[in-house]
Amino acid sequence: MATLEIRDLHVSVEADNATKEILKGVDLTVKQGETHAIMGPNGSGKSTLAYSLAGHPKYTITSGSVTLDGEDVLEMTVDERARAGLFLAMQYPVEIPGVSVSNFLRTSATAVRGEAPKLRTWVKEVKETMAGLQMDPAFAERNVNEGFSGGEKKRHEILQLELLKPKVAILDETDSGLDVDALRIVSEGVNRVRETGEVGTLLITHYTRILRYIKPDFVHVFANGRIAESGGAELADKLENEGYEAYVKGGASA
Ligand SMILES: Nc1ncnc2c1ncn2[C@@H]1O[C@H](COP(=O)(O)OP(=O)(O)OP(=O)(O)O)[C@@H](O)[C@H]1O
Ligand SMILES: [Mg+2]
Repeated sequence: MATLEIRDLHVSVEADNATKEILKGVDLTVKQGETHAIMGPNGSGKSTLAYSLAGHPKYTITSGSVTLDGEDVLEMTVDERARAGLFLAMQYPVEIPGVSVSNFLRTSATAVRGEAPKLRTWVKEVKETMAGLQMDPAFAERNVNEGFSGGEKKRHEILQLELLKPKVAILDETDSGLDVDALRIVSEGVNRVRETGEVGTLLITHYTRILRYIKPDFVHVFANGRIAESGGAELADKLENEGYEAYVKGGASA
């Protein structure tokens, strides 16, 4: 079983010629097969955690460790992280002009699997996965994220997730901006991956809505750059009713 272990992670960014610490000691363990939800107020550092795990150059790790199966993730390049089995669906996916969805997916799969997928089976795999997400096949020929609606971008992220079969997937607000039907379709995609028991999922969200479809094993409250409380699925309902005030009091975005 693959395990992602985050220990006492501190992360800073350079902003306005000053160094600002955003993550202030994050501890989290995600095992293959588990689903964790992270909830927390705007600006608390949730996306920063996702970017730091993905290896975004803007974010400097000042201390702490991240390992996947005991391997040092922080030492890996972005490509090596993907090959090791880490997957990140970003809150704001970027456009890649001139690169079609179909080429992009095949290149990614080749990188992650270490060899190009056989064309015959690959085309079928992509078609079936797109059908499962109710995506128009014509999407395969469009440029990645160019002119995609918010919901289309999110479906494209889940398409990648289903095709790349990572060990640990970090989904940053995959539910934001989805209509009710799209939320269900995207959730079903995540659940298909989950049901294999071979992926650990870290779901960053603001809404308990998605957690009705994707039942988390653990819920974590993120506040002021660290996990302030952890519990089971019931914690999400408590947060929905009571908000985050109890967690941010006295220490709002220092
Ligand atoms: N590249 C950056 N430059 C400057 N400040 C940054 C940068 N990245 C993040 N921050 C700051 O770090 C804090 C945490 O941002 P982050 O995006 O991680 O929050 P979040 O918890 O994902 O919020 P939201 O719920 O709104 O998505 C914010 O105050 C943000 O302005
Ligand atoms: Mg965010």
